[in-house]
Amino acid sequence: MTLEEKLGQLTQLVPDQPEFAPALEKGLVGSILNSGGVEQVNQMQRGLKVPLLVGYDVIHGYRTIFPIPLAIASSWDPQLAELSAGVAAKEARAAGIHWTFAPMVDIARDARWGRIAEGAGEDPVLGSAMAAAYVRGFQSNGVLACAKHYAAYGAAEAGRDYNTVEISERTLREIYLPPFRSAVDAGVATLMSAFESLNGVPASANHHLLTDILRKEWKFKGFVVGDWEAVAELIHHGIAASNQEAAKKAITAGVDMDMRDNSYSTLAAAVRKGELSPAVVDRAVRRVLRIKDQAGLLDHPTSNESDALSLDRDAARRVAQRSMVLLKNDNDLLPLPKSGRKIAVVGPLADSKHDMLGPWSAQGKAEECVTVREVIRDSVAVDDADVIIAVLGETREMSGEAASRASIDLPGDQEKFLESLVATGKPVVLVVMSGRPLAISWAAAHVPAIVQAWFLGTESGHALADVLFGDVNPSGKLPVTIPRATGQVPIYYNHLPTGRPPDPKDKYTSKYLDTEIGPLYPFGFGLTYTKFEYSDIRVTPQAASATIKNAGNREGEEIVQMYIGDPVASVSRPVKELKGFQRVALQPGESKRVEFTITRHDLEFWSDHGWIAEPGEFKVWIGPSSASGLEGTFQLH
Ligand code: BGC
Repeated sequence: MTLEEKLGQLTQLVPDQPEFAPALEKGLVGSILNSGGVEQVNQMQRGLKVPLLVGYDVIHGYRTIFPIPLAIASSWDPQLAELSAGVAAKEARAAGIHWTFAPMVDIARDARWGRIAEGAGEDPVLGSAMAAAYVRGFQSNGVLACAKHYAAYGAAEAGRDYNTVEISERTLREIYLPPFRSAVDAGVATLMSAFESLNGVPASANHHLLTDILRKEWKFKGFVVGDWEAVAELIHHGIAASNQEAAKKAITAGVDMDMRDNSYSTLAAAVRKGELSPAVVDRAVRRVLRIKDQAGLLDHPTSNESDALSLDRDAARRVAQRSMVLLKNDNDLLPLPKSGRKIAVVGPLADSKHDMLGPWSAQGKAEECVTVREVIRDSVAVDDADVIIAVLGETREMSGEAASRASIDLPGDQEKFLESLVATGKPVVLVVMSGRPLAISWAAAHVPAIVQAWFLGTESGHALADVLFGDVNPSGKLPVTIPRATGQVPIYYNHLPTGRPPDPKDKYTSKYLDTEIGPLYPFGFGLTYTKFEYSDIRVTPQAASATIKNAGNREGEEIVQMYIGDPVASVSRPVKELKGFQRVALQPGESKRVEFTITRHDLEFWSDHGWIAEPGEFKVWIGPSSASGLEGTFQLH
């Protein structure tokens, strides 16, 4: 290969940009994104020495749209994530796509950040389980995965997208990196380097992240693609004066492929002038070719022009049923009886097919989505109703990329509308659709039943009706903390203690003057139509267990969570950290003993000397959320 052809392998372009056609003709493109379909791609592949790798954002479905990743995380069920990724991969592969820019594994602790919708929420253990599951789901169904955005993109200051991140090495290692590590261990083929600057060094020129950690420590063998024009943006970040300088910094740090901005084409001159070692280029080319080979692309450059697959509505519905969280249910208002009550289904999202798709909906079609209003066919007007279902929240454009909000309240006049419904004196069920936690304090105080539904995708309406009318017992739990007010964010359960824990009776403690202490709904929280009782916790340094009983009168599934805390250590440790979770199905009256293994790593923290566990007392909680549970202790010697 010539030097130019090698750099071509490191160049990803979009077919509709002007540079594309001439570059393709000369064989100087290695990958495309957002192509126009399998026939067009096959045509491009013919005659190329090395086939193009075809990428696309298949985030939560391709044609069949599944719940957004934040919703799927609410199921705490990695198998559902894997199932959804498998269906998406099969559909995408049938359309000639080899590579998806998913999963997004960024931890997000600030609900203002719109991209919180695309990930698994605030916790590294839940996030790691989901990351590995998505990788398995995509890659065992013929599509290469890409863990993004490496790294700490979700820590954007003030929740403003693309903004700067300043965090300690400990926070980076303990909170933001574990899901990436999990994706790497699951065999992820590629990673995407992020837009933001981390402690002053842009992630897409960050040698510490891209080489020291990713290659040397984790032994990652795949390749890294820079996010959309992230290489050229090194100029805006103020660490390069030209595209060539940006490209040199990026490739040297470990960005193997450059997305969209064609900056790597400038590297030929740099190599010839002796400013860049040809070995750096060869290293990146080798990584890209290895993955093309792994994908079978070198032997089979074209894809079958098969008929598109039909939608997998059954899978979409099953996943959606488990992806919502019942937040409130006073006097067992839910489930609603299937007949004998007149129901009004109201609100801007009650019948909006477009919004059901959520952000990043690939080739999902709004007209194929089922809304709640469609399913509850005999909806009446509010005056005639016995019960009101209000479907409120965000439009799909209000979350996802470049969709940060300075206020996470219900948008516009929706709260006033809700107040008017409650003022009728009729029971109101609030269904919240959103790509982020919303500060619904007023609703939590005045509305008897609340379902957090996120965006549930193609089968939204059916899945919601299944839960509202009790065919399915809700079992989801929050993968993020729901704040009382925007001013509380960032807010997360695994925070460090302070010297002055909040005390309502003591002014000089850590709290706000104008908001109650603590979140509106804690991480891990979610109700069901039955009742689970926890008893008999037993703890050793190697394991913890408890008995969970279904004390209600319907079958149900409980997500049992284990948290660990290290109350006295050489550095301040989080008040508690999730270390394990299990979904258990229980018949009425049935009990099960749930056991968690405790590994050495569960007790470790990041120190100047790497991961260490210090002897002393540890606390363990097994419970239904981060805010309650049985407590035990053990000594580590
Ligand atoms: C986003 C990525 C996405 C890429 C390609 C960027 O703007 O940050 O998440 O994969 O575009 O569409």
